[in-house]
Amino acid sequence: MNRKNGAPKRPDLSVALGALRLGAPTLMGSGCYGSGEEYAPFVDLATLGGIVLKSVTRHPRLGNAAPRLVPTPSGLLNAIGLQNPGIDAYLENEVKKFADRPCAVIGSVAGFAVDDYAYVTERLAARDEIDAIELNISCPNVGTEGETFACDPSLAEAATRAARGVTAKPLIVKLSPNVTDIAAIARVVEAAGADALAVVNTVRGISIDVERWKPRLGNGSGGLSGPAIRPIAVLAVWEVAQAVRIPIVGQGGIETARDALEFILAGASAVGIGTGNFTDPRAPLNIVAGIRAYLVARGHASLREIVGKANPRFLGVAARVRA
Ligand SMILES: Cc1cc2nc3c(=O)[nH]c(=O)nc-3n(C[C@H](O)[C@H](O)[C@H](O)COP(=O)(O)O)c2cc1C
Repeated sequence: MNRKNGAPKRPDLSVALGALRLGAPTLMGSGCYGSGEEYAPFVDLATLGGIVLKSVTRHPRLGNAAPRLVPTPSGLLNAIGLQNPGIDAYLENEVKKFADRPCAVIGSVAGFAVDDYAYVTERLAARDEIDAIELNISCPNVGTEGETFACDPSLAEAATRAARGVTAKPLIVKLSPNVTDIAAIARVVEAAGADALAVVNTVRGISIDVERWKPRLGNGSGGLSGPAIRPIAVLAVWEVAQAVRIPIVGQGGIETARDALEFILAGASAVGIGTGNFTDPRAPLNIVAGIRAYLVARGHASLREIVGKANPRFLGVAARVRA
């Protein structure tokens, strides 16, 4: 509803992702915000919707050889290699730090076998400090030919079902843009019990050092994030929003309120901010303020009123628009 006359000064920006209630529509992207500690001097964490923690795996991982980050003209290539202490040490030493966070805390689970997703999700979700689980399924399945979970419908479905079977906490599944038909993956993940989808993880890329005749990243290839991937990510949200009914957390290159609004109008209910925090730690605050100002200027009482307003699905048009 558009109430230009008498619209509230503070429109409702809250979001529901299944049973997870966010006070603001902004989640800090996994691997880009630590546990929030380093950002607390610059940002009142209470103004964030939530923090998605760095992905954790069953066993400790040292991560990839350096260099792990390579800047590109309008994005960042990373190949961290899921460095983390493993779920045992994580539960012992890390999780208690999240107890007093004034925003939602979402644990991120990665795995290399279906059983890893069940095992790590069950242990992490059992902790009171964790409000919800995000499944990072952009990992290879070592039990088979090494296909990436997020790129194979049956593996994506199996990982989701495995995690769904061990927790009643809200479950967000994070999709990869490195697929031909992201809507097909979204559908099976929704059917397997996901409460929400994060769309998208990084786009595969490589940068070559022409003096050394070698890739710049120690790992060779990596994942591209930042403004370079924004149109790819907005299209992914656009397509996924036409395929599923569960809420979407759109992400990929969001730095400003207008960037975030592109995702919302494409069909996202909330947004993720990853690399944008590296260039400006106050970006999440500015994004929330900008979204609020946009809604006030247009007389909307809530963010929900404009979700998907550019997307044919929400206009009742059946046609699927392809780029
Ligand atoms: C340095 C770095 C580390 C990341 N680590 C993870 C991770 O551990 N798990 C995960 O699901 N996504 C990870 N991501 C992906 C981000 O959470 C985000 O989905 C992606 O970068 C796209 O959003 P952005 O352009 O706003 O960064 C990482 C991204 C970067 C740049």
